[in-house]
Amino acid sequence: MANICQIKNVADLVSEARRVYRETFDGDDANVAVCAPGRVNLIGEHTDYNEGFVLPMALPMVTVIVGRKISGQKCCVVTLTEAADEPRVVDFDLPNELTPLLRGQPNWANYVKGVVQHYRAQPIPGFRAVITSSVPLGGGLSSSASLEVATYTFLQQLCPDDGDQVAKAVACQQAEHTHAAVPCGIMDQFVSVLGKEGHALLIDCRHALTGSEYPTRRKQCEEAAAILGKKSLREATLQDLDAAKDRLDSVTYRRARHVIEEIERTAQAAEALKKGDYREFGRLMVESHNSLRDNYEVSCPELDELVAAALEVDGVFGSRMTGGGFGGCTVTLLQAHATEKAVKRIQGGARAQISSERSRKHFTDNPQPL
Ligand code: ADP
Ligand code: GAL
Repeated sequence: MANICQIKNVADLVSEARRVYRETFDGDDANVAVCAPGRVNLIGEHTDYNEGFVLPMALPMVTVIVGRKISGQKCCVVTLTEAADEPRVVDFDLPNELTPLLRGQPNWANYVKGVVQHYRAQPIPGFRAVITSSVPLGGGLSSSASLEVATYTFLQQLCPDDGDQVAKAVACQQAEHTHAAVPCGIMDQFVSVLGKEGHALLIDCRHALTGSEYPTRRKQCEEAAAILGKKSLREATLQDLDAAKDRLDSVTYRRARHVIEEIERTAQAAEALKKGDYREFGRLMVESHNSLRDNYEVSCPELDELVAAALEVDGVFGSRMTGGGFGGCTVTLLQAHATEKAVKRIQGGARAQISSERSRKHFTDNPQPL
C-alpha cells in the first residue's frame, strides 16, 4: 500500500500513552503495551454473515493500549481519543457470575467492558489502562474491532487464555453484539487478530463461526435463503435464485443477488491477486461497488463520487466502497506512479462533494421561493 498520509507510528503512540499513564496514575509506570490494527476490505462486502468469502487486509493504523494489573476488582480505563464520547476516563468493577458487566455510558467504554465480559480465561485481575489510536473513529476502518482486539490482547498479558485465535475473534465479535449492540459479522475482528502486514486475508466465513443477527439486510438475506430452501446464501447459485424469482419480492431478490455474486467475485478476486492480475482484480472491485450501490443499496452519493473520481485517473485498476456502507471510506487499487494524481483527483471529488452537500444544506435551511 502506498503510504500517502502520515500515520502516527506505534512507538510514538505507545510513548504518548505511557506518559499519560504516568501522569494519571501518580507516577506509576505501565508494564504492558499491546496493539491491534484496523482493516480495509478489498472485496467481499456483506458476505461474512452469509457464510461467504471476504478479502480484507490489516492496516498500519492501530489501537494501542498500555497498562498494568493492580490488586482488587477495580478497573480504570482512559482513552486519549478526542472523537470518543465523554467522559474519557471510566471506572468499573470486574464482572462475576451474579453481576455481569452491563452496557452503559460513555459508549466507547462498552467495547472494553464487552471484551472483559466475554474474555475466555479467569481470573482477570483489576487493571489500569490508557488507550490511544491512529484508526479514525467511525470511518469504516474498524476502529471498534481494533479496540476490542487490543483489549483482548491486553487481557491475555494479565491472565493468559489458551491462545485460540479464532475463539479470540469470536469473543470480540460477541462483545460488539452484546455491549455495542452492533450485530456485525466476523470479518473485522478476524482480520484484526490474524491479518499480516502487506497481505490480504481470504476468509471463508462458513468456517469462521459467524454470530447472531444483522438488522434489516441480514434478515432479508436469511429470508431469501429460507425461500430458496438453503441453510445460507453461500449454498445458493444464481440459477437457484432465478428459479425462485416469482416467490421473492424485488428487494429481497436484489439483496440475495448481490450476496451470491459477491461471494463468487471474492473467490475470483483472490485468484486474480495470486496471479498478479491487478486489472482483473480492479474490474471485480468496480463490479462489487456497483452491486453494493444498486442491489444491496448501502452506498451513498459521496462514496459513489469518490469511486468515480478515482476511476478517471490513468493507472487506476479499480475502486470501491469498503465496510458496512452508508458512509466511510473507499479503497482503490492502482499503479504506484498514479498515486499522487489519484489522491489529488479524489480530494477534488471530495471537495466538490462537500460543497454540493453545503449547497444542499443551504437550500434545505433557506428554502428558495419558486
Ligand atoms: P468503525 O468503522 O471505526 O469501527 P464504529 O462506529 O463501528 O466505526 O465504531 C466506532 C466507535 O468505537 C467509536 O464511536 C467509539 O465508541 C469506539 N472506539 C473506537 N476506537 C476508540 C478509541 N481509540 N477510544 C475510544 N473509543 C473508541
Ligand atoms: C461491517 C461489519 C462486518 C461486515 C461489513 C460489510 O460494518 O462489521 O462484519 O458485515 O460491515 O461487509
